[in-house]
Amino acid sequence: MSVAERILVVDDEPSIRKYLQTLLEVDGFQVETVSSGKEALEKVGAGERPDFVILDVLMPEMNGIETLKELMQVDHSLNVIMLSCSNEVGTVVDAIRLGAHDYLTKPFEKGELDAAMLKCRKKKQLHEENQALREYCEQLTEDLSFLAASPQMVRIRQQILQIAPVDVPVFICGESGVGKEVVARMIHLRSKRRNQAFVKVNCAALPGELLESELYGYEQGAFTGAVRAKPGKFELANKGTIFLDEIAEMSTHLQAKLLHVLQDHQYSRLGGRQVVDMDVRVLAATNMDVHEAMKDGRFREDLYYRLNVLSINVPPLRERQTEIPLLFRHFLQKYAEKFGKTASEPSPYLLEAAARYPWPGNLRELENFVKRYVILDDDEGSLRELVEMSTARQRSVPREEAPPPREQGLKALVRGLKDEAEMEAIAVALEKTRWCRKDAAKMLGISYKALLYKMRQFNLDTPRNRRGSTTEETRREPAMRNV
Ligand SMILES: Nc1ncnc2c1ncn2[C@@H]1O[C@H](COP(=O)(O)OP(=O)(O)OP(=O)(O)O)[C@@H](O)[C@H]1O
Ligand SMILES: [Mg+2]
Repeated sequence: MSVAERILVVDDEPSIRKYLQTLLEVDGFQVETVSSGKEALEKVGAGERPDFVILDVLMPEMNGIETLKELMQVDHSLNVIMLSCSNEVGTVVDAIRLGAHDYLTKPFEKGELDAAMLKCRKKKQLHEENQALREYCEQLTEDLSFLAASPQMVRIRQQILQIAPVDVPVFICGESGVGKEVVARMIHLRSKRRNQAFVKVNCAALPGELLESELYGYEQGAFTGAVRAKPGKFELANKGTIFLDEIAEMSTHLQAKLLHVLQDHQYSRLGGRQVVDMDVRVLAATNMDVHEAMKDGRFREDLYYRLNVLSINVPPLRERQTEIPLLFRHFLQKYAEKFGKTASEPSPYLLEAAARYPWPGNLRELENFVKRYVILDDDEGSLRELVEMSTARQRSVPREEAPPPREQGLKALVRGLKDEAEMEAIAVALEKTRWCRKDAAKMLGISYKALLYKMRQFNLDTPRNRRGSTTEETRREPAMRNV
């Protein structure tokens, strides 16, 4: 034994206590003895966790079975060996059912005690190994559901692993749908608080007063309609993590209150006098440009600096294109399982088109797209949808993004982008239909004549004569890179 194992002996008979203490201390155990179930419960209730408890069945006041029942309620993983008399077989069965590991019948030999201890230790070891295995499996599943296949995301995963165990606030930024919540959950799961609650609050979903009562809770009668007291999210997250999503949407009044709470580590329920101590790790997220919001006075700088002890900036999907085919398959598997469908493997054309599309709604948009793909099981239809999305976007982009100063430049830019989108859509359709123009025209929803005209316009001909970005090699390359 490297560190002495601790044993708590519970017996009302002093001679038995002394006997067990001597035998066990000779074997190197650290032994503590008490004479009643009540004392044993006090010790365990106060947080003491002996490696083994040897518990007598027949005791005045609280007997061994009652004591065992209560001990198990405090901590079901306690290793208890019962001490019984030979005429108590029924009681022994009850004890084992209640969670005792083994029993010894009085009077017992030293060898019997050793055997019971050994059996108990093996069970404990097995339990610990099981626990470790379970944790490992949980982590593996969690790792598998957090895909990080681009250099940026690999770096973010490393950041998460580094900062998760440090109990300080983290500020997570990124466009809508990039995976901020996934990052927050991963931080919680990798922190020491992982076995406690993870409570999410969407600060944009509720107006000011409601958000305040949601966060801090209220006492009965605190305001009209408060018929009974309700704990707030901070209370529910006690000892765990709170994730304040869309924090920049919080009213400035509530921002001020939050700042105080974070400084004092204390708050009160609305309408309450009692001050509650707060032991919660705060993670906050926003898809807004916080610096702009601070400049405009919509977000308090002091709150930002308190929350932004560490920060993670999750990049948009268009900056980690190499992940798209993998994410596609990841979501495909997820929804095929969820809907109990055997989803077909997406065609290379679809994966390529998906890898090229800029996904303004990021992973959430891609996820919904794949969900539709799984439900409809129509590769061609999905490809068409993507082409339409690209075209629609190409049309709207020049207005959204910084326009060039002169009108002539703008017009040329729009025309160029439109042509590019059209050319790409046509090329994809031709590839998909193995250059059958009739089928391609049908797929694109245009007439055969219009297709021929466009093909001439873009100089799209047989595969050998195709030009620029539509050649097989260059069209394939982006999707296949690093995958
Ligand atoms: N790294 C990742 N690996 C696998 N799936 C991911 C990853 N990141 C995000 N997702 C999935 O993408 C979807 C969007 O992620 P999430 O809800 O975390 O985004 P968000 O940034 O919080 O979005 P919003 O700003 O809209 O609240 C979720 O279904 C999530 O499971
Ligand atoms: Mg979110």
